Amino acid sequence: MKILLGVTGGIAAYKSLELVRLFMKAGHQVQVVMTAGAKEFIQPLSFQALSGNPVRDQLFDENQEAGMGHIELARWADLIVIAPCSAETLAKLRMGRADDLLMTLCLATDRPIMLAPAMNRLMWSNAATQENVALLQQRGFEILTPAEGEQACGEVGAGRMPEPETIFSQAERYLDAQQKNAQAWAELHPSWQGKRLLITAGPTFEDLDPVRFIGNRSSGKMGFAIAEVAHKLGAQVTLIAGPVSLSCSPDISRLDVRSAQQMFEAVQSHYAQQDVFISAAAVADFRPANQSNQKIKKRTDQDLMSLQLVKNPDIVAWVAEQANKPFVVGFAAETENVLDYAQSKLKRKQLDMICANQVGKNLGFESEQNALTLVTRDAVEALMISSKKQQAFELLKFLASLHSF
Ligand code: C5P
Repeated sequence: MKILLGVTGGIAAYKSLELVRLFMKAGHQVQVVMTAGAKEFIQPLSFQALSGNPVRDQLFDENQEAGMGHIELARWADLIVIAPCSAETLAKLRMGRADDLLMTLCLATDRPIMLAPAMNRLMWSNAATQENVALLQQRGFEILTPAEGEQACGEVGAGRMPEPETIFSQAERYLDAQQKNAQAWAELHPSWQGKRLLITAGPTFEDLDPVRFIGNRSSGKMGFAIAEVAHKLGAQVTLIAGPVSLSCSPDISRLDVRSAQQMFEAVQSHYAQQDVFISAAAVADFRPANQSNQKIKKRTDQDLMSLQLVKNPDIVAWVAEQANKPFVVGFAAETENVLDYAQSKLKRKQLDMICANQVGKNLGFESEQNALTLVTRDAVEALMISSKKQQAFELLKFLASLHSF
């Protein structure tokens, strides 16, 4: 495997020599890229001697670029490891800076990036650093937990770079998992290539007046994860999103709506050309019977207030009734009797499949993880708890395995 090792400024930089040795001994090729800060701590020549490759440290150097340009270098790597990874590097990665060779490489790659943070304990626990770490993790960076112990500055706490052996074995395990993952994606790709998928995601907001609405706690993450994964598998994805604070790939055709009625209209104009419709949105079952144009005033003589609600159209059931319907997949978020309710919903709404999930207990709404149970008329498959992206992959794999799809 080809490992691009980024070394940034920190006293732990000398330990990365041992990391190069371990990678080389295991048969990997190593190309080292150093930042200006790293060179304050250690000589490039040491890395060159161990890796057998000249160290790269300049973005605008004709001689260095003549061998392998920075974009080629970004594509050359199977894995990028940054060890030690300074607090400054975490902040720059978060911002997407491209002000030196290493940052540019990280921005110009689609390869996995593993970070081994190393810094003073207060810098590590600082809210800014922790926020950077959380955001980078969300974006798919693999971030190792720093070790605890005595620090170069004399303080004791968490922030030391993990030992080279630990980084090495985590990198090996990660590469292994990545390889298996890449294989699974490559196998599924032909099934989804060119398929047309319509998906709804997020909550709907039903306005009472210009400032108030009835909504729910759906974040839209599950639907967005399915849209992203299907897009990466080659599907043509149309995503109808309720009010969410999520972004998606620019290649996904996205329509933003607010209310159930607007979502219904968007689905009506798009369902006919689709192979599959996945209704992941948490559509409000009712909306206020009257919507006030002005803010509804509080009446001081009133302790009780009633709202009259009218039923919203059931979007997924409507699609399932159409003669030219696509394969229809619904979601069932329940707090109890998940499977029973899901099976009766499948029949009642005439769906082809339903994805049942228990909400609460760190699962479902607002959470990063989920554990779906996939239900058709003839089969039930319970997925293991995992990230919403992984659940999306398993769901699309299950769909592809159905004969009727
Ligand atoms: O009946 P329940 O709301 O639990 O059904 C959930 C499924 O129905 C989800 O797939 C949801 O997107 C869909 N639904 C809908 N229109 C509604 C209510 C729910 O499409 N008005």
